[in-house]
Amino acid sequence: MGRIALVTGGTRGIGAAISIALNEAGYTVATTYARNDEVATKFTAKTGIPTYKWSVADYEECAEGVAKVEADLGPIDVLVNNAGITRDGMFHKVTPQQWKEVIDTNLNGIFNMTHPIWSGMRDRRFGRIINISSINGQKGQMGQVNYSAAKAGDLGFTKALAQEGALKGITVNAICPGYIGTEMVLAIPEKVLNEKIIPQIPVGRLGKPEEIARCVLFLASDDAEFITGSTLTANGGQFVV
Ligand code: CAA
Repeated sequence: MGRIALVTGGTRGIGAAISIALNEAGYTVATTYARNDEVATKFTAKTGIPTYKWSVADYEECAEGVAKVEADLGPIDVLVNNAGITRDGMFHKVTPQQWKEVIDTNLNGIFNMTHPIWSGMRDRRFGRIINISSINGQKGQMGQVNYSAAKAGDLGFTKALAQEGALKGITVNAICPGYIGTEMVLAIPEKVLNEKIIPQIPVGRLGKPEEIARCVLFLASDDAEFITGSTLTANGGQFVV
């Protein structure tokens, strides 16, 4: 195989499952993380996957980080823009800082990461950009005006850039996970999760990170070369588009 994949926010949650699945499928994988050194060290010890620390919210850090990964491993063929944060709160209580942090990471982050990689993919006539958006970018979610706006923005980014990449052998797609059993979802107040959210999922359970990782594997593969600009939903039937 020999392809090189970079997964942002890849040491925990959905990102960790994606990194591991790509690694097991024969990709050379690198992951990024922003804060938690201890988790990253343990992740590398367990999986052998190298981790790089920078914030996707900072363009310069992304450009430098991408250059370092490419110097270490070679040109990046597959970019999975997975890094994301929540700063949930009802809109009347949300601060400008909470708005900015979510937009900077979840929306500006995919620009910051994709831009330094894009020209190389164009030159090589191959690339896979896979953006992890969210069910809440599709349907909106109370308590998540910032997150829903950013994740909806990721879908617009995907559709527009797909058109630019189409004749250059680059596909750009999005995945919209529903509620997946990660730390991010388990941080929701238990009463809200059990009484308001899980009853809205027709399959009757949270998703598993590995179920999203399998979507990534497909979109990254040669089998998916005719699929671009698309949104793959994986939400247990919670929101049907
Ligand atoms: N769906 C339905 N009702 C919800 C809700 C939800 N997701 N979130 C909150 N509510 C309801 C609460 O049950 C409550 O109703 P009642 O007064 O009838 O009990 C009302 O809204 C107000 O909620 P709180 O009492 O919890 O208000 P708060 O100000 O203390 O907290 C909040 C507000 C921070 C938004 C908190 O309710 C919360 O965290 N909600 C979950 C928001 C959410 O769905 N986040 C998704 C995180 S996971 C993720 O983002 C990954 C992904 O891509 C899916």
